Amino acid sequence: MDDQSTTVRDSFSGRFAVVAAIAGSAIGLGNIWRFPYVAGENGGGAFLLVYLICTVAIGIPVMTSEFIIGRAAQRNPYGAFKTLAPGTPWFLIGLIGIAAAFMILAFYTTVAGWTLEYFFQSITGNLAGKNNAELTDMFNSFQKGSFRPLLWFLIFMGFTGAIIISGVREGIEKYTKVMMPFLFILLLLLCVRSLTLPGAKAGLQFLFHPDISKLTPRMILEALGQSFFSLSIGMGTLITYGSYIKKNENLISSAGMVAIADTAVTVIAGIAIFPAVFALGGSPASDTGLVFIVLPEIFQKMPLGNIFATLFFILLAIAAFTSTISILEVIVAYLVEELKMSRRKATIAATLSVSVLGVITALSFGALSNIRVADKNIFSILEYLTSNIMLPIGGFFIVLFIGWFFSPVLVKKELTNDGSLKGRYLPLFRFFVKFIAPVAIAMVFLYSLGIIK
Ligand code: TRP
Repeated sequence: MDDQSTTVRDSFSGRFAVVAAIAGSAIGLGNIWRFPYVAGENGGGAFLLVYLICTVAIGIPVMTSEFIIGRAAQRNPYGAFKTLAPGTPWFLIGLIGIAAAFMILAFYTTVAGWTLEYFFQSITGNLAGKNNAELTDMFNSFQKGSFRPLLWFLIFMGFTGAIIISGVREGIEKYTKVMMPFLFILLLLLCVRSLTLPGAKAGLQFLFHPDISKLTPRMILEALGQSFFSLSIGMGTLITYGSYIKKNENLISSAGMVAIADTAVTVIAGIAIFPAVFALGGSPASDTGLVFIVLPEIFQKMPLGNIFATLFFILLAIAAFTSTISILEVIVAYLVEELKMSRRKATIAATLSVSVLGVITALSFGALSNIRVADKNIFSILEYLTSNIMLPIGGFFIVLFIGWFFSPVLVKKELTNDGSLKGRYLPLFRFFVKFIAPVAIAMVFLYSLGIIK
């Protein structure tokens, strides 16, 4: 199976498949694990507000720009810039993206492994009857361990590689479409239970009443980073997926739909978690363990809680899985198209090299926890560097490229599908990619570096 770049490119089969696969990449641990803990540490409502503004004003323009680049070039992020802007340094954006893919996969798959641990713990009945303190202990001692985090990481990584070997259409589409509606329903059930706990109001207050005093430079940077992370933008995942989008799909409306779906899941996850945090006496600032401590608590207060918990954690693992394959695909597409490897060899090489970094990351709460920079362990360094720095920088250059350097004729061609769509949003899109998005990203950076106040 040596499907090299010279053969016809795989593509998503239709409307629903495009949005489903891209939403599958976007929706994952970013919404359900990362948003609650980062929002919890950054003041709740004010964070949510800035996050929403970033999603609309920056996220959708960056996402659409990635689609344009990918579909116009029909290549991986590095190759795409080489094709669209030959003889210029723009390809560096693609290379940074591929580096970011390695780093994100290492820590993301570590957390995906935690969801497998919690699937295992719920199916064996070990979560039942534990209170907040016991669940906190349980999470901490699991996270500090060596064997189990490592084992689950490797299992997850292995599965991801196995799917990528089998190619785009069969590999990605099949798994994405069926499962996610169930996860959504379970999240809604969690919301109902969480909201009906006595004392739940304080959580809603925390999530939906912005406290303006919480608007700090650091929080704004975190909200920007979270919006990039959650939408899978800024590193070329969506350039790669864009290259699989058919020529008759509407790029702007696809981006809009993905952003709406992704944001909806985030808000619903917030409604499931914060009311329960306050009602059950936990702390919203519980770091990476927040959802692994709170969700089992909510499940215990539901009829058939253990069954729901088991289902939930396996579905969360699957949601993470549709995200890890989208990240690994970036590296594999690069190796196949640029280094002319077979898909099989490329996948094995990528999986093994990510695993080296991943093993170190999975151990960074335990055996390697004394390796620290600025008081952050390896896991947090990777997470901070990628989401808050590399993705926004990538996004900045992606909108600059589309807004200022790429041919306006070709942008129009992509957004109107060669004239067959009216392109009503074209002027608005131009304004956002030229001015709003790049200026906003630059301001967040300057503000958080203390250069502007
Ligand atoms: N967006 C995914 C999530 O929220 C994670 C993810 C997939 C991602 N591909 C990415 C993050 C590319 C950043 C860049 O779980």
